[in-house]
Amino acid sequence: MERISFLIDNKRISVLKGSRERIFYIHGSGGDAEIWKNQLMDLGGYAIDLPNHGKSENAEIRSVDDYAYFVAEIVKKIAGKAIVVGHSLGGAVAQKVYLNHKEIVEALVLVGTGARLRVLPSVLEGLKIKASETSKIVANVAFHRKEFVEQFAKLFEERAKILLEDLMLCDAFDILEDYKAGKIRFEVPTIAIVGEHDLLTPLKYSEFFAKYGAELRVIKNAGHMVMLENPLEFNAELKKFIDQLKR
Ligand code: COA
Repeated sequence: MERISFLIDNKRISVLKGSRERIFYIHGSGGDAEIWKNQLMDLGGYAIDLPNHGKSENAEIRSVDDYAYFVAEIVKKIAGKAIVVGHSLGGAVAQKVYLNHKEIVEALVLVGTGARLRVLPSVLEGLKIKASETSKIVANVAFHRKEFVEQFAKLFEERAKILLEDLMLCDAFDILEDYKAGKIRFEVPTIAIVGEHDLLTPLKYSEFFAKYGAELRVIKNAGHMVMLENPLEFNAELKKFIDQLKR
């Protein structure tokens, strides 16, 4: 795996590259490209560090649309058109890439995400005033497989500021009614993948996407961090979906 970077509006954006497959992965709140290591190694593609995350430079981000802009510019520079995979907040970004930059999206993969991503007020408040305790709670609900919790509780605490900023963007993200009103329908192949024990973006959120043209896959023995918790099954489903596109 190698790191490459690009200047977008004078901000250096870092990308972790597995192979030249045209798959682009977008991480969730307080995350970074490394979260996709199992997928980069197995399926290839490019995982982006969003601005203000990982090895990317800081930029002013006011909404999910701003993240979508940076992702779209990276896709244009590297591949022109791509399969866009987004997890949680990254799934909101992927939806906005699709809605705002349709020409660059070949297919969509919405992982543990939703059309509305309201966040518990106690989590938002807690990250401001008791980051350590709240980071532990978030890590506990994010993972079904508890062996990951300690490592991620520490990570979330270190990243409490950006985690809070991202969760506030999630909380404001709401395009549910646009789907219901028929303003949004998936016109490219789309799959929603969710861990069966996801407590943060429950199955219901992915079932909602299925009403508007997405295929649905539920992954066993996994919670919200499904691509990390059950990479074998997750990658098999993603591979099947991508192979279908190539036929
Ligand atoms: N897709 C489909 N349905 C959705 C949805 C989505 N993305 N988001 C919400 N809904 C549904 C809810 O299930 C609910 O349906 P119901 O009335 O049939 O039960 C309805 O829309 C209203 O839900 P919501 O917008 O969530 O408002 P709320 O006031 O009921 O709950 C919270 C707000 C914060 C308590 C709730 O969203 C929650 O428990 N969130 C915790 C999980 C979290 O923090 N996730 C982080 C996401 S990154």
